[in-house]
Amino acid sequence: MQDKPIFFLQRQGSPYAAAFQEDAMIKADHLTRFFGKNKVVNEVSFSIGKGEILGFLGPNGAGKSTTMRMLTGFIPPSSGTAVICGHDIRNHPLEVRRSIGYLPEAAPVYPDMTVQAFLEFIARVRGFSGREKKRVVDETIEKSFLPEVRRQTVGTLSKGYRQRVCFAQSILHDPPVLIMDEPTDGLDPNQKHEVRTMIREMGRNKAIILCTHILEEVEAVCSRAIIIARGAVVADDTPEGLKARSRSAGTVRVVVRSGPGFDPEADLKALQEVKDVVVLSRDGGRADLRVYPAGDPSETARGIMQGLDSARHTLESVYVESGRLDEVFRTITQA
Ligand SMILES: Nc1ncnc2c1ncn2[C@@H]1O[C@H](COP(=O)(O)OP(=O)(O)OP(=O)(O)O)[C@@H](O)[C@H]1O
Ligand SMILES: [Mg+2]
Repeated sequence: MQDKPIFFLQRQGSPYAAAFQEDAMIKADHLTRFFGKNKVVNEVSFSIGKGEILGFLGPNGAGKSTTMRMLTGFIPPSSGTAVICGHDIRNHPLEVRRSIGYLPEAAPVYPDMTVQAFLEFIARVRGFSGREKKRVVDETIEKSFLPEVRRQTVGTLSKGYRQRVCFAQSILHDPPVLIMDEPTDGLDPNQKHEVRTMIREMGRNKAIILCTHILEEVEAVCSRAIIIARGAVVADDTPEGLKARSRSAGTVRVVVRSGPGFDPEADLKALQEVKDVVVLSRDGGRADLRVYPAGDPSETARGIMQGLDSARHTLESVYVESGRLDEVFRTITQA
């Protein structure tokens, strides 16, 4: 099935009536989608309130973009539904589209339009005219880091600048809900940082879903994360909560330089605060070790700093691991 181009071509009508009456601004209710016999989204349910930024994670082909397309009304669910700002996607697709800014995964480009003309077109479609239209277009160009290319045609832009244009069209009408499918894809590190900062700021009074493969983006931006695998939700937690599921969470990492003949593994194991020790790597007299605490990890870290014989070993670093999102992602999605 070929998806249609993506920009919403409905006029801005009534304001977001009743949008803020509901606690949940995005509510997915057993969203399910088949393509032929393949169930690619399987009973996905969640709800997001104002001020939440949800990271939507999952391996390639897990069904993230398909879920986003259903939420934004581009494809209908096979069963289940979603309610966006009080509007059911099945019965009120226009209201849904007005409430949403959508940055799709593979955004179409209008190669012959200049950046400015394209955004003016989007603004008109969104119901702006006259001075108001000029104001939103100018503001959006500023916010999306596009001033230097405003008169360039979209088709001649580099990949990152095209991505900025797509970002710009999604935020232009200041929607209460933003759905962004890999928004920083193709951006340089400075722009990634700027866009993340902006998403964080916008997240204070919007509900945002961010599909991404970049786990550091989730840690930097999201208040919550859902992981899907093979179409189904397999985790729904805060980034901290997810990291805490990591095998390494709550262990103490020790990097130590030891004198000839002295074994840090044995000396660490001899401490009462230490339950077990795993050597991660060893290079001459330097060793990187993971220590499993007998009790409280901070106590163990202190016990190591005070208890390890400094005549035999020089500690280079000791810290309590908060866990690794990539490790948790791998464990959960490969189960
Ligand atoms: N229009 C379509 N027709 C048939 N199959 C489709 C269609 N769109 C998506 N699929 C299939 O649905 C599954 C989920 O695709 P989707 O694009 O939602 O994955 P994703 O999680 O966004 O992956 P990625 O991380 O690669 O972007 C894939 O197996 C894909 O091939
Ligand atoms: Mg995708």
